[in-house]
Amino acid sequence: MNQDELKRAAAHAALDCIDDDIIVGVGTGSTVNHFIDALAGRRERIRGAVSSSEASSARLAAHGIAVLDLNGIDELPVYVDGADEIDGGFAMIKGGGGALTREKIVAAVAHRFICICDASKRVATLGNYPLPVEVIPMARAHVARELARLGGQPRLREGFVTDNGNLILDVHGLEIRDPVGLEGELNQIVGVVTNGLFARRGADLLLLAAESGVQRLAPAQ
Ligand code: A5P
Repeated sequence: MNQDELKRAAAHAALDCIDDDIIVGVGTGSTVNHFIDALAGRRERIRGAVSSSEASSARLAAHGIAVLDLNGIDELPVYVDGADEIDGGFAMIKGGGGALTREKIVAAVAHRFICICDASKRVATLGNYPLPVEVIPMARAHVARELARLGGQPRLREGFVTDNGNLILDVHGLEIRDPVGLEGELNQIVGVVTNGLFARRGADLLLLAAESGVQRLAPAQ
């Protein structure tokens, strides 16, 4: 199987975790696109979806799945999303698609975060994948200096504006030994909207697709 087929396998496995008559939190990216396409086959059995990006909203709507406002719902049983990297404790780097802020908001509301990945995303230590940081445009240079002070090499994602009208700095060269600590530290830099470390609220279940099949994994304690 190629990588896209593995992504599809992980996405289809997530359907088993979707109960009838619930609202589903939906992430962003190529793996989630497979999940949205699969979810379309049971759209009559769910109440709708809360989306983490304009792209996912458009794909959900194209399939006739109702896209609901997060502010209008009381609870969200489950959120399904991919990751750029995930470690043994299920802390993740996310935001390769630039949707990290809305992803983190929807994930914060959800009772359960189900991460769907191909096996290439599993790592021992986060940081080989550049860490996305969403910044207010006027703070770009200030935030870049602060990120460099922390040992990273920030690079502006050229020609990219987030759904929230902000910029992304991709931070190279970080070896992230303390994801929870670094997530908090980055949040303290004035001008940072969100960073792509999902460690304080990591995944609860990982559906990891490899040639041998899709594994259902719980985080190491
Ligand atoms: C989107 O902003 C990201 O957080 C994605 O969830 C992540 O980049 C995984 O994307 P793929 O499923 O396309 O690999």
